Amino acid sequence: MELYEAIRKRRTIRDFSMKRVPEEVLTRILEAGMKAPSHDHARDWHFVVLHDPEHIADVLRHVGHGAEVQTDIIDHWDTATKCQKAMYYDALPKQVKMLSRSRCLVLPFFRAGTDLMSPRDISSLNSFASIWCLIENILLAATAEGLHCALRIPIQGEEEYVRKTIHAPEGYRLPCYLAVGYAAPDAKIIQQQEISFKEHVHWENW
Ligand SMILES: Cc1cc2nc3c(=O)[nH]c(=O)nc-3n(C[C@H](O)[C@H](O)[C@H](O)COP(=O)(O)O)c2cc1C
Repeated sequence: MELYEAIRKRRTIRDFSMKRVPEEVLTRILEAGMKAPSHDHARDWHFVVLHDPEHIADVLRHVGHGAEVQTDIIDHWDTATKCQKAMYYDALPKQVKMLSRSRCLVLPFFRAGTDLMSPRDISSLNSFASIWCLIENILLAATAEGLHCALRIPIQGEEEYVRKTIHAPEGYRLPCYLAVGYAAPDAKIIQQQEISFKEHVHWENW
């Protein structure tokens, strides 16, 4: 698939079929992730890839406890647009299912090297920014392979729980959980928020 086509076609889906992603395809996708630009020429990144449904359930145990909020609270989010609300209605009840059903849960880790919670300046967040370059490469490579992804940001105690469950060393951080898989035939694709390119690009000065 041509690059611009992959960029156009990449969409989050949260409904996966149980079809297994072949290992050589997954390897190509993760290698594409590793080609991303990185601060300090560091590339200090690791993946933990989970296939075993019991192991995945174990890793997601903490998500099950806190994440599946009642969707009726979304109606009261006054600042959210209709399009954003549609996304939250789809996303919130599916947080556990979307990560477990793909049967391929990728946990990317990066060495933070600094306290991300109290950065001196924006460059103190470079390790965090770099791992998101890696994640975007994975999303696009997965699209080029005819696959889809769903991601979730760990909240509250989730990250620490996952780190301990899969024995990740101290100092490594988990920016997101990443499910990679084949879309279910009836997978929902939420309309993307439309923005006007013209209004968002400023030539010479804002
Ligand atoms: C930084 C970031 C955090 C996100 N967090 C979550 C999340 O916790 N749960 C989820 O279901 N989707 C999450 N998403 C996916 C977004 O909801 C999705 O990208 C957005 O709705 C736009 O849809 P699209 O990816 O199909 O263009 C996140 C995406 C990004 C980039």
